[in-house]
Amino acid sequence: MSSSCSGLSRVLVAVAIALVSTSSPCPQAWGPPGVQYGQPGRSMTLCCPGVTSGAPVSWFRDGETRLLQGPDSGLGHELVLARADSTDEGTYICRTLDGALKGIVTLQLGYPPARPVVSCQAADYENFSCTWSPSQVSGLPTRYLTSYRKKTVPGADGQRMSPSTGPWPCPQDPPGASRCVVHGAEFWSQYRINVTEVNPLGVSTRLLDVSLQSILRPDPPQGLRVESVPGYPRRLRASWTYPASWPRQPHFLLKFRLQYRPAQHPAWSTVEPAGLEEVITDAVAGLPHAVRVSARDFLDAGTWSAWSPEAWGTPSIDHRDPLEQVAVLASLGIFSFLGLAAGALALGLWLRLRPDGKDGPQKPGFLAPVIPVDKLPGETKKSVC
Ligand SMILES: *[C@@H]1O[C@H](CO)[C@@H](O)[C@H](O)[C@H]1NC(C)=O
Ligand SMILES: *[C@@H]1O[C@H](CO)[C@@H](O)[C@H](O)[C@H]1NC(C)=O
Repeated sequence: MSSSCSGLSRVLVAVAIALVSTSSPCPQAWGPPGVQYGQPGRSMTLCCPGVTSGAPVSWFRDGETRLLQGPDSGLGHELVLARADSTDEGTYICRTLDGALKGIVTLQLGYPPARPVVSCQAADYENFSCTWSPSQVSGLPTRYLTSYRKKTVPGADGQRMSPSTGPWPCPQDPPGASRCVVHGAEFWSQYRINVTEVNPLGVSTRLLDVSLQSILRPDPPQGLRVESVPGYPRRLRASWTYPASWPRQPHFLLKFRLQYRPAQHPAWSTVEPAGLEEVITDAVAGLPHAVRVSARDFLDAGTWSAWSPEAWGTPSIDHRDPLEQVAVLASLGIFSFLGLAAGALALGLWLRLRPDGKDGPQKPGFLAPVIPVDKLPGETKKSVC
């Protein structure tokens, strides 16, 4: 049963091919029907589709009566243009000896594909996407075939690929976008991406090896909020959430870094918070502060995310803590000159007295040399190990 079926379909295919080849001697390149393609500066052969191969025809430009090539040229159903240039682009007509119209052919010039530029990126630990762009403009209708395989480690018996390594299509999503997505990839595996540019003049393939753990770059954290802490004029509490694109799982956590700076102050202070919240204890009382956060895979795979959009907050102005009250006065008033002088003095002393590097303060916080108020029960874990 199945063998007679396949025999029948083979016959049908043969008939179909015979029909096509008797109805047109012209190879149909990929692209819209009726258009034939060539390269500027190269010789170009146009083919009359409505005759049998070798039948003598006359060629005209569409809309002109001047004969381009007569039926006695010896070239049969073909028209040869020695060095095609842009003035040759346009529509041609072929007729048989009796004047019957046998074909309308449009000539379009352009270049063969060149290897596209491809890069891949992952915003979570299971899916990655690749994007591409042409490395050279071909001027012709173009499409991209995208696939990937899992790279195998060469076995002891040679380099045979097991069937499970692909290739599988990398679906273009949405269709026609210069982007395809691989879902459900393995975090530690190597993948080889194949992006093949296709146009009527040929194909060109770019291969790119990627592994999820090296291209991983989370999206920035979301929902960043900065709030004052009532009664503490030098504190700000910042909180945020995981990016929506990163499902939380015990084996794939994110770590964070947070930066803050008072308005008009150019330099950021950086801390590495332990969780999804951080209390800044050396804010400048009365000044708005900008805060931003970024995220990275907990085990340092890939790279840091971009910074989140900045959020702003101003420490509360009611002071309950006498120590902080002093600090507020200092930072608001005496700060300008006295503060700087004292700071320089303190820094000098510190530089001279510190026991050779390692045990020194890890990072002087903003204004730290001026106002020694950081001794409050500290929720802030200062950065760098
Ligand atoms: C990977 O993509 C699928 C389909 O979009 C999604 O359901 C899944 O949550 C993604 N995986 C991760 C870890 O984000
Ligand atoms: C890349 O993809 C193209 C188109 O699917 C295919 O013809 C070619 O063999 C592939 N090349 C490699 C090295 O896998």
